[in-house]
Amino acid sequence: MSEPFYVTTPIYYVNAEPHIGHAYSTIVADVLNRFYRLTGCKTFFLTGTDEHGDKIVASAEKSGQTPKEYVDRISHLFRMLWPKLNISNDYFIRTTDQNHKDTVRRILSKVNENGDIYFSDYEGLYCVGCERFYTQRELVDGKCPDHQTEPEVIGEANYFFRMSKYQDWLIDHINRHPDFIRPERYRNEVLSFLKEPLEDLCISRPKSRLSWGITLPFDENFVTYVWFDALINYISAIGFPDGEGFEKFWPFSQHIIAKDILKPHGIYWPCMLKSAGIEIYQHLNVHGYWNVNEGKMSKSLGNVVSPLQLMDVYGLDAFRYFLLRDMVFGLDSEFSEEALVGRINADLANDLGNLVSRSLTMVHKYFKGKLPDSGAPEEADKDLKESALDLIDRYETLMKNQAFHKALIAIWEVISKVNKYIDTMAPWVLAKSDCDRLSTVIFHIVETLKIVSALLWPFMPGSAEKIQDQLGLAKKGEALKLDDVRAWGKERAEKPLVKAPALFPRIEEKGLKGEAGKAPRKETRKKEEPMISFKEFQKMDLRIGTIREAEAIPGSKKLLKLTVDVGDERTVVAGLVGHYSEAELPGKQVLVLANLEPVKLMGVESRGMVLAAEDGDDVRLLMPDGNMPPGSIVK
Ligand code: MSP
Repeated sequence: MSEPFYVTTPIYYVNAEPHIGHAYSTIVADVLNRFYRLTGCKTFFLTGTDEHGDKIVASAEKSGQTPKEYVDRISHLFRMLWPKLNISNDYFIRTTDQNHKDTVRRILSKVNENGDIYFSDYEGLYCVGCERFYTQRELVDGKCPDHQTEPEVIGEANYFFRMSKYQDWLIDHINRHPDFIRPERYRNEVLSFLKEPLEDLCISRPKSRLSWGITLPFDENFVTYVWFDALINYISAIGFPDGEGFEKFWPFSQHIIAKDILKPHGIYWPCMLKSAGIEIYQHLNVHGYWNVNEGKMSKSLGNVVSPLQLMDVYGLDAFRYFLLRDMVFGLDSEFSEEALVGRINADLANDLGNLVSRSLTMVHKYFKGKLPDSGAPEEADKDLKESALDLIDRYETLMKNQAFHKALIAIWEVISKVNKYIDTMAPWVLAKSDCDRLSTVIFHIVETLKIVSALLWPFMPGSAEKIQDQLGLAKKGEALKLDDVRAWGKERAEKPLVKAPALFPRIEEKGLKGEAGKAPRKETRKKEEPMISFKEFQKMDLRIGTIREAEAIPGSKKLLKLTVDVGDERTVVAGLVGHYSEAELPGKQVLVLANLEPVKLMGVESRGMVLAAEDGDDVRLLMPDGNMPPGSIVK
C-alpha cells in the first residue's frame, strides 16, 4: 500500500482578487494531488485564505466594509474560483474559522509553556506589505525588496518567539535532509540566510494598534502576528492535535509556495513546529514568479492577468497545460498570450488533438468503432509499446521531483512517436491489403493513447476524461489509474469508441490594426464560438438593403462607401475593394446588420454592416433568393 500524500497551497491574502500567480500555485498542488491519486495513494489537498492582519484591515477600510464583511466577500471569490479551475481540494480553510483560532491559541500556549516566548521592548523596521520586521541587511537600498517601499520605524513592547534557539537545529535538519527545501537554489538561499545569527521573531501586535487578529492566550491586550497565525493553518485544517487526518497525513506533508514566502516557510515554520514539539513537515516545494512584460504583476501597473478571463477565451485545460508546460518549477517565467496561443495550436490542436481524432476515425472506419485485438507484434509495434511503458516510469520520477514541464515533454515525445508510427504504418494502405496487420497497428495506437490520456489526467483532467470516454474506457466517472494502463492491453473498452468533435480547436490569430499611435493589437478567437441564446439573436436587426451608390474612399485600399436603402437610406462602409467594382454594385440587394453601433472608418461614418462570406482571399456578398422590398426583415 503506498504512503498517503498531503499537499497545501499558501493560504492567500484576501486583499486582492485571484490572479494567475495564485492560480499557478493552486494548479500545481492540484496536479500533484491528482498525480498521487493516479498512483493509488490516499491524498489530502488543502487551500484557503489568510484573513487577519494590517493589510486586510486597510483594504476593508478602503472598500467601506467591516473587516468581517470584507474577508467574507473576497474569501468567497477564492473559494468559488477553484471549482472553475477544476481544483480538487478536499478542504478550504479560513484563518477566521473558530477551529483554526483555537488551534493557534493552543500552540501559542504550548510554545509559551516551553519557555520560548518572552516580552520585550523593540524598535524595528516594519514593512506593512510583508507584515513583518526587516533587518537592515535584508533591505535593498533601504527598501523592502518585494514592495520597493521604505519600511516604517515601529517601536513598541511585544511578545517574542525565541527562534534563535533553533538556528543550529534547523541548519542540521536541512543538511541531513537535502530535499527538505527544493529546488536546491532555495535550500541554499535558506542556508545562506542562516549563516548570520537568527533573530527572535516578534509574534504579537498590541490591540491598541491592530485588533483584527487572534487574541494571545496569555495576554488579551495583544493579537497574534499574522504569520504565526497563518502557518498553523496547515495543521489546524487536518485536525491537530488528535484528529485522524493529522495523524495520517501530517508525516507526508508537502507545501507548495512561491519564492516570496520562503523565509516564513523555510525558517519560522520549522522552528515553530520544533518548539511546539510537533514533527516537521516533509517537503517545501518552491516555485518562481510569473512576470508580465518582464516585471511583477501589479494592480497599479494594470497588468494583472485574470485566470478566469484566460480560461473563458482559451479553455481551462489549455490554460492549465500552458502554465505547467511553460514554467520550469523553481524559475521565473514570462507570461504572454502569444506563447499560450502558440502552445495550444502546436501541442494541443496539432499533436494531441490530431492523434486522438485520427485514431478514433480509423477505429470507426475500419472496425465500426470496436477496438480490434492485436496479432503478432512486429519490431515497430514492440518499439512503440516499449516507449509507452517506459514513459510511465520516467513520468513517475519526474512528477515526484516537480519536473512538470519535463514530464509533459516526455509525454509529447511519445505523442509524436505515435503520430510518426501512424504515418509509417499507413493503416489506410493496410486496410486494402492486410487486415491482420491493420488490427495490430490500430491496437498499438489505441493502447498508447490510453497511457497518454492517463498521464495527462493530472494536468488536463477534463480532456483526459473525454479521451478515455471516447475510447470507451471511462469507469463510473473515474479516470484510469497508472496500474490500469501499465497492464498493456488489459483494460478493454466496454462500449464502442466514440467519434467526437475536436478536443482543442485551433485558435485563429488575426492581426488587427491598432488605434493610431498604438501597437497593432492581436485578436485571437476560438473557431468554436460560445452559443448565443435566441433572445440574443433577436437583438440583431437584420434587413434586406438595396445598394443605391458605391464610391471609393480616398486613401483606402480596402473600403468602399455604399449608400444602401434599408427602409431608410444610409451610408455603410464595406471592405469590398478588389472583390466588387464600384460600377457593378448599385442595384444589388444585400443583407445588412442595421443596428450595429455607428463607427467612423477613414473619416466616413458607417451605420451598419453589409454581410459577406469569406474564404481566404475570396469575398462574396450575401443576397436574398429573389427580389425583396428594401428594409424587409431577415429572421
Ligand atoms: N498569506 C500569505 C501566505 C500565508 S501561507 C501560510 C501570502 N499570501 S499571498 O496572497 O500574497 O500569496 C502569495 C503566494 O501567491 C505566492 O507564494 C505564490 O504561491 C502565489 N503568487 C502570487 N503572485 C505570484 C506570481 N506572480 N507568480 C507565481 N506565484 C505567485 O503570501
